[in-house]
Amino acid sequence: MSTQSRRDFLRRATSSVGLVLSAPVIAGIVTGCEQDESNPTTPTGQTFTVDISKLPELAAIGGITLQAVTGLNANEPVFISRIADSTFAVFSSTCTHQGCPVDLPASPQGNCVCPCHRAEFSRTDGSVTRQPLSGSATNLKRFTATFDAQSNVLTITT
Ligand code: FES
Repeated sequence: MSTQSRRDFLRRATSSVGLVLSAPVIAGIVTGCEQDESNPTTPTGQTFTVDISKLPELAAIGGITLQAVTGLNANEPVFISRIADSTFAVFSSTCTHQGCPVDLPASPQGNCVCPCHRAEFSRTDGSVTRQPLSGSATNLKRFTATFDAQSNVLTITT
């Protein structure tokens, strides 16, 4: 093997080794970037309770509030919306577009609007009512909620 071809061989071999060694690192970086941070997860099978009597904004049908419930929605606030006497909807306030916190409705009949790119979500179930200025959003993550009128306690399950 000539000096030139040996040099070429070594250069190619070291570049290939470099690619092989860095592939797992690149895979780890890519996997880390693929996590959906716009929709925090909560382990399934967990139960949380909220005393509705302590939330005057939910006293009437149509009321909505933002509450941080420890352990739920990765500790990010959730919307609690009263849609009937004994029916509540609970959904994440984390925008499914790029993860900004979605605001409470600005008016009594208004929907929840994300201040980042103006996506809008139904105040009664978190479904998308207007897509962001660019890209797209999906419905806000919804949690199962049951209300006990006797105790005024809302039980949220994941
Ligand atoms: S992050 Fe909410 S609309 Fe973009």
